[in-house]
Amino acid sequence: MTTPVNVTVTGAAGQIGYALLFRIASGAMLGPEVPVRLRLLEIPQAVKAAEGTAMELDDCAFPLLAGIDIHDDVAAGFAGTNVALLVGARPRGAGMERADLLEANGGIFGPQGRAINDHAADDVRVLVVGNPANTNALIAASNAPDVPKDRFTAMTRLDHNRALSQAAARAGVPVAQVRRLTIWGNHSASQYPDLFHAEVGGRPGAELAADTAWLTDDFIPTVAKRGAAIIDARGASSAASAANAAIDHTRDWTLGTPEGDWTSAGLWSTGQYGVPEGIVSSFPVTSSGGTWDVVDGIEIDDFSRARIDASVAELVEEREAVRSLGLI
Ligand code: NAI
Repeated sequence: MTTPVNVTVTGAAGQIGYALLFRIASGAMLGPEVPVRLRLLEIPQAVKAAEGTAMELDDCAFPLLAGIDIHDDVAAGFAGTNVALLVGARPRGAGMERADLLEANGGIFGPQGRAINDHAADDVRVLVVGNPANTNALIAASNAPDVPKDRFTAMTRLDHNRALSQAAARAGVPVAQVRRLTIWGNHSASQYPDLFHAEVGGRPGAELAADTAWLTDDFIPTVAKRGAAIIDARGASSAASAANAAIDHTRDWTLGTPEGDWTSAGLWSTGQYGVPEGIVSSFPVTSSGGTWDVVDGIEIDDFSRARIDASVAELVEEREAVRSLGLI
């Protein structure tokens, strides 16, 4: 049997964790040939719930599941980890200011970044799901000086998938016929889902985007505020779709994106498309050989530029806030 890949999932006892672990163990994330060893990292109060989930994983008798360990210690949780899915985060409590939220999450993602730096495998790849995902990824990456910055990513794939679905519905085509959409910026309401370079049902996405009223009053806000709409309808935040997006992101990162298509991911900016260096921002990306590359040469018109700049400005503000708190 091939050596198992070590996959650490933080927040394993939470609702995304519950929707994610079974799919990882089934082979949906790394492929049907690759055995996985799961590391569930939780806070001490949630270890018992994680043990319950581990019992259910055992009861699935997944042929690819080579073992499960449960930890409440970060160093042990990331020891030898190849893939780290950082899902557990501190939610915004009643009366909590944004600075309090960033500080509370800095207390989680700073130590996790250091533990990844010191204990993970050399090829570690990190996906941050826990919100505020982009800035939590920035904090983790900044606390892991020995790990290349391009190994830390933030999840905007759920936003990407939401945009694919909305565009397909508008055009009346199957979702598989929508390609090359982009989410730019922050995983927040300021994000910019960009249809202009997409292909929808074999036609330029710009044709759909030419209906400016639909684009600005319907498509963009529906995608950007979908998380709130799900909470409103379900009484709980997106879980299965978020877990599915984490699977899609990690599968494409590991196995590559399809020829002729691209996807979206939050990456450490090196200045592409005028996005300042040293923030984690969503870009159009392809992957091959286990590395994300930002797609080159997309022309950005004034409409898109203003929206990208607004979302990026929010990320810069978040960076300044965590910097002034001494978290990076
Ligand atoms: P949840 O509250 O059901 O679960 C969170 C789990 O994290 C809990 O079991 C908690 O004990 C654990 N946890 C907290 N601090 C931890 C730490 N320091 N180490 C390890 N575990 C820790 O939340 P849910 O619904 O699973 O969501 C998780 C996160 O994902 C939230 O921050 C949510 O906002 C975010 N999210 C991000 C999305 C994205 O597209 N990037 C989409 C949907 C959710």
